[in-house]
Amino acid sequence: MPDFEVVGAEGPWLYRADGSRIFDGSSGLLCVNAGQGSRKVLSRIEHQFSRYTFGGPAVVQPRIQLELVDRLCRAVGRPEDSVALLTCGTLGVEIAVSMARNIARVRNGKRRGDILTSNLSYHGTSAFTLAIGGNQVRRPRPEDAFGLGPSFPAPYPPAHNHGHTARPCDASCADEVAKAIDAKGEENVAAVLLEPVNGTTGGAFVPPDGYLRRVSEICRERNVLVIHDEVLTGLWRTGTPLASAHWEGAEPDLCILSKGLGGGYTSAAAVLVSPQLAPLLKHDSADPLPPMGTMSAHPLQAAACLGVLDELEAMDFNALQARGDRLGNALRSLCDLPSVRDVRGIGHLYAVELASGQLWPAMKEAEARGVFLYPFTGAGHPRSEGFVVAPPLNSTDEDISFLAEALRGAAAAISD
Ligand SMILES: Cc1ncc(COP(=O)(O)O)c(C=O)c1O
Repeated sequence: MPDFEVVGAEGPWLYRADGSRIFDGSSGLLCVNAGQGSRKVLSRIEHQFSRYTFGGPAVVQPRIQLELVDRLCRAVGRPEDSVALLTCGTLGVEIAVSMARNIARVRNGKRRGDILTSNLSYHGTSAFTLAIGGNQVRRPRPEDAFGLGPSFPAPYPPAHNHGHTARPCDASCADEVAKAIDAKGEENVAAVLLEPVNGTTGGAFVPPDGYLRRVSEICRERNVLVIHDEVLTGLWRTGTPLASAHWEGAEPDLCILSKGLGGGYTSAAAVLVSPQLAPLLKHDSADPLPPMGTMSAHPLQAAACLGVLDELEAMDFNALQARGDRLGNALRSLCDLPSVRDVRGIGHLYAVELASGQLWPAMKEAEARGVFLYPFTGAGHPRSEGFVVAPPLNSTDEDISFLAEALRGAAAAISD
């Protein structure tokens, strides 16, 4: 746990009581995408507060929630989707799973509703999402995992063992998804759930070109739905509204957003369902829709999310992309230092993998240079370690230069 107390925050900067400031290189828990202290968010919340402060769809006409849903769908280029609003990423995944099972039963008469995941994945904190996830550190004991677990290797060298050949992963690694579905029997599999770009389990691995498209094709051939967990990557973290937009043909059937939607101002998530599938949830043979919870679709939540979208959509996207590329190039240049094993990532999401035992010394050196970072461990054997670099998206050019310089200093200090 970091030992600094914060008494104020503005944009990507956190202020200590002594007036010194520290740069938030991890956007909090990769959620403070629009920085802190936004006036736009405040004015949206104030306005809604002055009208009424509670009223979900089952209580009053959900006007502000509908405004959010419409705005969100247009922002991510899926204007015809149907949306469920929820309170956090974990619940988003849970509800997406329930919906996918329901759709798969109505559409294809599936016998079971298995959900297949990769061995390098994280999908939330509930007993079910921990059990299906591939985060080894967070997995429950085998006897507490309901017999669930990941069923195919993620397409990254430490997670996907190619035997004695050192060949890199490529689109053909999607064949492992086909094998996993076929092993269960396609009549038993409702959906494949995956992070289109790897988050903090393993650290910012980007899939090989063509991989996501091939996964979608394999699933389509077998009447299996594709759910993208974009809890962390959604809403421009990787440079595009959805991470899947980096590759053609990679659009999922269902998609979960969360961290970038609430922007750290509120707890929020959204499950987007494609227009071809959403009507099936209302079919006569469908199970009842999963209940959403008391605080889901809360009007203050919707107001805060609209304020976050106001901030995000006001960004200069070319400048955003250029800053992300500059950050990536600066970080990749750290690979010439002996303590740095690998740098990978995209947009404003990178991982700097370090030599064994160097993580905490590096975090300390970074903090001494005024930067806070998020640690990761996860892939490979022995397990890899390093830090995620994910600054708020509205960091300035000067902020990014400061960050890059501080991280070079920290990485050089642990390499001496
Ligand atoms: C990819 C991914 N899915 C799901 C979750 C769970 O979200 P939450 O912590 O909001 O429940 C996280 C959280 O880190 C995540 O990174």
